[in-house]
Amino acid sequence: MALLLARLVGSSGEVVGVERDPRSISRARARVAEAGLHNVQFIESDVAQVRSDKLFDAAVGRYILMFVPDPASVLRSVSQFVRPGGVLVFQEASYSPFLAAARPLPLWSAGALLLARSQTVNLMQSSPTRCSSIFGNLLEHFQK
Ligand SMILES: C[S@@+](CC[C@H](N)C(=O)[O-])C[C@H]1O[C@@H](n2cnc3c(N)ncnc32)[C@H](O)[C@@H]1O
Repeated sequence: MALLLARLVGSSGEVVGVERDPRSISRARARVAEAGLHNVQFIESDVAQVRSDKLFDAAVGRYILMFVPDPASVLRSVSQFVRPGGVLVFQEASYSPFLAAARPLPLWSAGALLLARSQTVNLMQSSPTRCSSIFGNLLEHFQK
């Protein structure tokens, strides 16, 4: 996303990427360097915690809000860094229609339930909090 935006704003513009995972930032920095771009920087932070004194022309995100517990509050806080008349654009996926359509399919439900159970056991051992937020929801969905 940062690469796309860097090309959009051109060399006189600036892109600040926010990412909480240091490994993703390392990969993104390598890709930025490989592309020969000099107008991109990254901040390692939870998007909900990010602060800025600067105003930006736009705040853009892809597949981010779907992972945060309170997307509306993230949108509110991010919108404070966008100048009046600026742009706030987020592209997110909603799996609800797909899951609702797939639920009556017996093989889908059986497979998904098996997967959710095995993943839940694995994740419970490594990260109980994350587990309950992701696969707990899945399990709940398929046990309805
Ligand atoms: C599906 S990827 C999308 C990456 C990028 N936006 C793109 O479209 O190529 C989701 C990314 O969001 C990051 N992420 C998830 N929750 C976050 C949060 N609360 N704050 C910052 N980054 C977060 C993850 O570490 C992951 O790299």
